[in-house]
Amino acid sequence: MLAFTSVLVALVYSTTILANLINVEKRYITHGLPTPTRNGTHDGFYYYFWTDGQGSVNYTNKAGGQYTVTWSNTGNFFGGKGWSPGSGRNVTYSGSWDGAQGNSYVSLYGWMQNPLIEYYIVESFGTYDPGSAFSAPKETITVDGGTYNIYITRRTIAGGEGPGHWTVLTQLWSVRQQKRVGGTINAQAHLDAWARAGVKLGNTHTFQILATEAYFYKNIGTASITVQGP
Ligand SMILES: *[C@@H]1O[C@H](CO)[C@@H](O)[C@H](O)[C@H]1NC(C)=O
Ligand SMILES: *[C@@H]1O[C@H](CO)[C@@H](O)[C@H](O)[C@H]1NC(C)=O
Ligand SMILES: *[C@@H]1O[C@H](CO)[C@@H](O)[C@H](O)[C@H]1NC(C)=O
Repeated sequence: MLAFTSVLVALVYSTTILANLINVEKRYITHGLPTPTRNGTHDGFYYYFWTDGQGSVNYTNKAGGQYTVTWSNTGNFFGGKGWSPGSGRNVTYSGSWDGAQGNSYVSLYGWMQNPLIEYYIVESFGTYDPGSAFSAPKETITVDGGTYNIYITRRTIAGGEGPGHWTVLTQLWSVRQQKRVGGTINAQAHLDAWARAGVKLGNTHTFQILATEAYFYKNIGTASITVQGP
């Protein structure tokens, strides 16, 4: 009975994990880019908001470079304001983020194409350090008053032209060791560091946003972030 119960619990547990992994991958279904829930221009800034539809998340564009987001018990979502196309600009932003009690990031988040790249310059994170998935950083850079750990990974994801297709992308990380919310991010310094580490960057810089993101389970949070022009 005990053994049977354990097997049942293990089965239910692994099915839940599997379901969530599938949900994570669902966001990459068109040419490797997340299929947007909403994206466009709002009051002079590009914005992008995506959710897998689980839990409760309310993303609101405010005047200029500001947005707010509140969430509870979500699956995976991200949203924020920035620019399309992205570039090596200095991104100055300010605001507040209260997401530390769950898995959540504040990052300058972007995509490139040819080759396909997804990148994160993480300024702050909650219960999960994305660098913990790697044995050691590829290198570190010191810029904008902090030290960032650089990680590079390849991901194979569902997507491309029609079902049953797979897309390979490079995922780049730069994770600030002295967490902060607010300041200036010299995006070019991170692009240069990734290139020095051997990454061929994309020919097209699709977009970049100062994003708030959260992941599975018992997360609750609120953020109000403002990016400054131009
Ligand atoms: C933005 O949304 C439009 C549809 O409204 C879509 O065609 C386009 O691919 C989206 N952009 C990105 C970068 O996902
Ligand atoms: C999102 O907005 C709806 C409608 O106002 C509200 O019922 C819900 O509680 C909000 N969710 C969060 C996490 O703030
Ligand atoms: C970003 O700021 C740094 C430090 O002030 C400066 O050296 C650099 O040229 C700036 N980059 C851009 C793209 O303006």
